[in-house]
Amino acid sequence: MNDINGDRLLADLRALSDIGGLPNGGIDRLAWSEADLKGRRWFARRIREAGLEAREDSALNVFGRLPEASGPFILTGSHLDSVPNGRRLDGAYGAVAALEVLRTLVEARDPLAERVEIVGFSDEEGVRFSIGLLGSLALCGELPLERLRDARDLDGVRSDEVLVQAGTSLDRLAEAGAHLASLAAFLELHIEQGPRMEAASMDLAVVTGIVGVHRQQFRVIGTQNHAGTTPFALRHDAGRAAARAIAGVEELVQSIDAEAVANVGIVRFYPGGVNVIPGEASFSLEVRHWDERVVRRIVDAFSRRLEETCREEGCNASAELLSWVPPARMDEATMRNLEMACQELGQTAGRLWSGAGHDAAVLSRHVPTGMLFVPSAGGVSHAPAEATDDQHLVLGARALLRAVRVSASRIK
Ligand code: GLV
Ligand code: MN
Ligand code: MN
Repeated sequence: MNDINGDRLLADLRALSDIGGLPNGGIDRLAWSEADLKGRRWFARRIREAGLEAREDSALNVFGRLPEASGPFILTGSHLDSVPNGRRLDGAYGAVAALEVLRTLVEARDPLAERVEIVGFSDEEGVRFSIGLLGSLALCGELPLERLRDARDLDGVRSDEVLVQAGTSLDRLAEAGAHLASLAAFLELHIEQGPRMEAASMDLAVVTGIVGVHRQQFRVIGTQNHAGTTPFALRHDAGRAAARAIAGVEELVQSIDAEAVANVGIVRFYPGGVNVIPGEASFSLEVRHWDERVVRRIVDAFSRRLEETCREEGCNASAELLSWVPPARMDEATMRNLEMACQELGQTAGRLWSGAGHDAAVLSRHVPTGMLFVPSAGGVSHAPAEATDDQHLVLGARALLRAVRVSASRIK
């Protein structure tokens, strides 16, 4: 059996990392931005250069397959967008490795190549509208259209305006769902993005499930006033109320479940002046755990805590749900297939649940889905220091090739 071309895989990863590259070595291919669109065009071009057919759907997901293939397909890939000031592997690795796998099958004239389709999903990260997984949600007919319609990006630009500028529109997004019926399974290769594989000396890990991700936006209303003349006792400082609640997040989460995590990633005070007591504050809260009940308990406990704090500060709080992605279980037969693929390479894969969100969480609700991880150096991701050594990148793609072949051979 032919194997993947490791040098070509690594060269493609480097070439893609030039798009949206930052002077500090990081990457910025924020969803729907010019750099993101350029990255998608690059991916489509590489697909065509391999003699494959490239297709972009209405959600700007980029697909590749043999021109004469008609499905059903094993879909494999990941996302092409990045977080701001991120790095080159989160998402891009799985998409580029998928291309390398299909290219290898085509070059070997393997008849199974006809049953394989690759994908570079759009807006997995959700940074633009705080929603996330939009490409896979569109493919799976699960778009949160109401929420998306009201969404604005961090610069206040309406979602539809952003989408139209990127070459699609809110009204067209759902057309992407027509393709779901052609899919038989989904496999996603990704870097771990956490420290557990390295700590356990794992070279490969099969993912058992993906955490649920709950995102809210809180708004605290106080009284805007003069920062020099208003005694502390007379203030209703929305910034202080928000900061007190935010400072207590870690302790509150840990008191409920040691494996749960939460993040306040966006904080804003209004109107924003060194000498103005904030009359309003807003912040995001993201909570993650693999058990939905734990997420619910944390979300409820935080709301109560914020209300108490606001009462003490003479402020009021309100909350808005941004998105909720329930925890996902990977398919047991697909997990075993991935483990066997690793064994063929003389590797014993570990098993892990994922603390990061992935398109596989969405796909798993529709088709048998599995994920494979390679380690992240120092457990770092969503930061310019993200790295995985070349041997692991090549090893992961070799395992993906084997798992894709087995899954493709099982399509009825
Ligand atoms: C995506 O990487 C996420 O976990 O938010
Ligand atoms: Mn990712
Ligand atoms: Mn990510």
